[in-house]
Amino acid sequence: MRSVIDILDLSLPELDALVATAEDIIARPDDYADACRRKKLATLFFEPSTRTRLSFEAAMYELGGNVLSVAGGNTSSAAKGESVADTVKTVSCYADIIAMRHPKEGAALVAANNAKVPVINAGDGGHCHPTQTLADLLTIHREKGRFTDLTVGLCGDLKFGRTVHSLINALSRCTGNRFVLISPEELKVPSYVKAEALKKNGVPYSQTTDLESVMPQLDILYMTRVQRERFFNEEDYLRLKDSYILTPEKLKNAKKDLSIMHPLPRVNEISVSIDDDPRACYFKQVLNGKYMRMALILMLLKEAGTI
Ligand code: NCD
Repeated sequence: MRSVIDILDLSLPELDALVATAEDIIARPDDYADACRRKKLATLFFEPSTRTRLSFEAAMYELGGNVLSVAGGNTSSAAKGESVADTVKTVSCYADIIAMRHPKEGAALVAANNAKVPVINAGDGGHCHPTQTLADLLTIHREKGRFTDLTVGLCGDLKFGRTVHSLINALSRCTGNRFVLISPEELKVPSYVKAEALKKNGVPYSQTTDLESVMPQLDILYMTRVQRERFFNEEDYLRLKDSYILTPEKLKNAKKDLSIMHPLPRVNEISVSIDDDPRACYFKQVLNGKYMRMALILMLLKEAGTI
């Protein structure tokens, strides 16, 4: 049974095909309105979420399917001590596909190994978040027309930010890309991500603590929230939380066609006065995420022979 736990579970041709399907859905939504009729998606979210859960659910409804939802882990039997394995074996009896978010790294893999239906990782701890990367990729494709030859600045909590890890993995496979990693010393990209994505693929990157000095180089600036829930102590969070706040002033030396991205939720990282700047793409990412999740659900249900 094919599941998507990591963005690397999807080949480059598959990513291109998902983008093409998403574009077709945008152009011809009516053609997809019954594609998943009488099929059910279960969303199992053991961590807070607004966009990811609702966009999976909106995606399934727009494909003509239905949704079963566990929105808060403590309202399900997980709170009684049930294992992830038992939970997904149970949910496999009701649903044709599962999207799961869990605070533990690796939980989605455990789910995939035990489910009888495809599992989509909607975020496992500080590890990865492949469907946010699908949203990011469609956005980059629509803004830049390519996944190659881009200088991508990633800024903020690069240690715990799972969306960052998945995006690095995705774009490291495409030629000519370069990363500028902007973070406080304590929140640098983990060495396993550098080793397995950047170094292994020979992708050039630099690390800095100073956003403004690198701004003129960037084609994409991907801002992230400091991940409070993954800190061991509140003092460190409070010290680091406002390390980077993007203001119009700081964009003075930026490229005219910079794309400003953020997976959201935003806490303080981007001044709201930037929202009307034509370079701001973060609410486009939200919408693009729904289309890419539609494309992914279709792909996995077709492969499983469910539709
Ligand atoms: C991200 C996540 O959950 O990792 N949110 C999302 O899914 N768009 C980013 C975050 O929480 O900071």
